[in-house]
Amino acid sequence: MKKEIVVSGIRSTGYLHLGNYFGAMRNYVKMQEDYDCYFFVADYHSLTTHPDPKDLKANVFRVAAENIACGLDPNKVTLYVQSDVPEVTELYLMLNMMAYKGELEKVPTFKEKARNQPDNVNAGLLTYPVLMAADILIHKAVKVPVGKDQEQHLEMARNFANRFTSRYGEVFPEPMPFNFGNQLIKVPSLDGAGKMSKSENVNATIFLADEDDVIRKKVMKAKTDQGPTEHNSEMPDYIQNLFLLMDLVCAQETVDQYKTAFNTCTIRYGDMKKQLAEDMVNFVRPIREKTIELHNNEALLQKILKEGAEKARVSARATIEEARKIIGINYY
Ligand code: TRP
Repeated sequence: MKKEIVVSGIRSTGYLHLGNYFGAMRNYVKMQEDYDCYFFVADYHSLTTHPDPKDLKANVFRVAAENIACGLDPNKVTLYVQSDVPEVTELYLMLNMMAYKGELEKVPTFKEKARNQPDNVNAGLLTYPVLMAADILIHKAVKVPVGKDQEQHLEMARNFANRFTSRYGEVFPEPMPFNFGNQLIKVPSLDGAGKMSKSENVNATIFLADEDDVIRKKVMKAKTDQGPTEHNSEMPDYIQNLFLLMDLVCAQETVDQYKTAFNTCTIRYGDMKKQLAEDMVNFVRPIREKTIELHNNEALLQKILKEGAEKARVSARATIEEARKIIGINYY
């Protein structure tokens, strides 16, 4: 049976952190077994903020290396760089004719960016959801694994696809959000407030590139208190968060042991944080080392990305031919 097609874009700015790993990466790695996956580094999208040309290559290669180090297997998924598949930009142009100024201006992510960078409210920023729709529709994806923050963009992709269909005929299936159910894990930040994030509270976020000692320091600074004074007390949320983090990286019996200690008021948060820090170090280290090894092997990364682009272009070309023809760009 033909596998369902999945597309997802990986931002090329910033470093991956544990929130990305448990929220997205781990699911990507699972999906590669059962779906026909196209995962790409979204370098065109990053141009909206005019990054320094010197930084682009290192960002793209690092993100690719990090994703492979987390378990994405280039032999199972098609891993490529967005700008290596020019058919995406052609479809972007076509879809721009289906996208209306009013609806684009209403998108919350656009409004927020426009507020944050009032001097650079460019058309690329406005049409970000159109480019994202092109990324998805170019492979006729039916499932897109995205977080809550991207669901509206995905809805717009469905709208553009449907408008295209009613104007010209069916080329694009409707892409639906991939639902991980209860596997969608929010990884709490170490300062007890919110979740790990690459823009906020970086000192309370564990990055996959963090050195052992950096991880230890961040974990040891996490907020605790004197400990409970009554058996089976309610757990303050910052302690609950530490337990959530333990669930992710520690052995079950270790977690149980500390839970019992909490319930019997014998818990020592210093020891608990040391344990959490060591288990996190052991979790992150192999990923960090693999990333560095790959990043240092530019020839290998180039080979992987070039092969990925070739595979992606086969699928992209077929879709574009179909779209051109149905639009009437079919002259010779
Ligand atoms: N906009 C997504 C993000 O910010 C990245 C992205 C670009 C994407 N194109 C995509 C995700 C296509 C899914 C499908 O995370």
